[in-house]
Amino acid sequence: MEFKLTEEQLAVKEAAREFAQKELLPGVIERDSKMIFPTDQVRMMAELGFLGMMVSPDYGGGGMDTLSYVLAMEEISKVDNSCSVLMSVNNSLVCWGLEEYGTESQKLKYLTKLATGEWIGCFCLSEPEAGSDATSQRTTAVDKGDHYLLNGTKNWITNGGCSRIHIVIAQTDPELGHKGINAFIVDAESDGVSIGAKEDKLGIRSSDTHTIMYSDVKVPKENRIGEDGFGFKFAMRVLAGGRIGIAAQALGIGAGAYELSLAYSKEREAFGVPIHKHQAIAFKLADMATDIEAARLLVYRSAWFKDQGMDYATASSMAKLYASQAAMKHTVEAVQIHGGYGFVKEYHVERLMRDAKITQIYEGTSEVQKIVISRDILKGNLYQPMVAAQHN
Ligand code: CAA
Repeated sequence: MEFKLTEEQLAVKEAAREFAQKELLPGVIERDSKMIFPTDQVRMMAELGFLGMMVSPDYGGGGMDTLSYVLAMEEISKVDNSCSVLMSVNNSLVCWGLEEYGTESQKLKYLTKLATGEWIGCFCLSEPEAGSDATSQRTTAVDKGDHYLLNGTKNWITNGGCSRIHIVIAQTDPELGHKGINAFIVDAESDGVSIGAKEDKLGIRSSDTHTIMYSDVKVPKENRIGEDGFGFKFAMRVLAGGRIGIAAQALGIGAGAYELSLAYSKEREAFGVPIHKHQAIAFKLADMATDIEAARLLVYRSAWFKDQGMDYATASSMAKLYASQAAMKHTVEAVQIHGGYGFVKEYHVERLMRDAKITQIYEGTSEVQKIVISRDILKGNLYQPMVAAQHN
């Protein structure tokens, strides 16, 4: 079994690390505490090609594999998760869905601008009364012949205020249940689109999270994605890929907390020696390193499944479930290792601990991931062992 990254993948990882350490680290604490949107940093991410990494160069993207995207997400998430969530949503939920299921004219009109980062996109599924239960959409899109009339409210939308393009999931025929759901490309500049105040959050505080209201918004017929009734499956497929990005974010958070803890444990002395010489700390570092490496294997494996054209829905749920649990557990441990310094903003680990929590909630809670995994087990697919999956 080959565990080696290619030269290209290593170069992407190194470029992302350098960008994160040089351009994101200075100012990340202030942006977080004052909820300042990282405008300049997002522009740089666009220039460096981080916003459309997997999109074909034909549409302005980087034409890279999913593993390269994961490596970049991991490095950027060690430092600034408000930037990495923007990157993840734009790459996975917006660009990938459009490239995979959009028409040629949709790709030329929208994807070319989203892949280069000229426009940012958001994915509008969650509603005040539909979070985990994604089939219960109250937002409606009524067929009016040459257009749909869109009405409803979407909640907790990442990139909600800065996006030009909204991918909106809405009910077109309530009698058909999930088969009556469609996905639409909505221009944020359309009449009837209004954006609520920015949310004041526990973590990823400078990311741009809003409620969005749609009131009699006219959406041209040609902006529906896929066949009539394809919207729920579209959302599930897009989210299966999105979960690889969030799993990589969780991995980066855990790995970042580990790197900071290791460095601190070599500098800080107690009872006459650096604290890593005490088993109480050394054992914590061993647990952290082991769990993070296990998360890394699951995350890279899910990206590899996707790159091989294999079914990756269960693999990505496993990666997100495990990596987010590891991130939460070990950022708490990182704060403990740092002692009093861990409780103040200057040392970064308290921010990573706050950021870790959202990875257990967005793009499907941990409980949703367990639904996906357990249903696959009960279908008789067991747990998709890597070798067996290649033979399916
Ligand atoms: N690929 C293709 N089709 C899929 C699929 C997948 N991965 N998963 C499900 N489907 C299909 C099923 O086959 C089924 O189709 P048929 O009826 O034709 O057989 C249909 O979709 C309905 O599937 P389920 O019966 O499994 O649906 P469910 O209502 O029981 O829901 C669920 C399952 C897993 C809980 C799902 O609702 C879910 O994932 N919920 C969480 C939603 C979520 O992740 N929200 C995140 C919002 S976006 C976000 O957070 C972005 C951000 O801010 C960063």
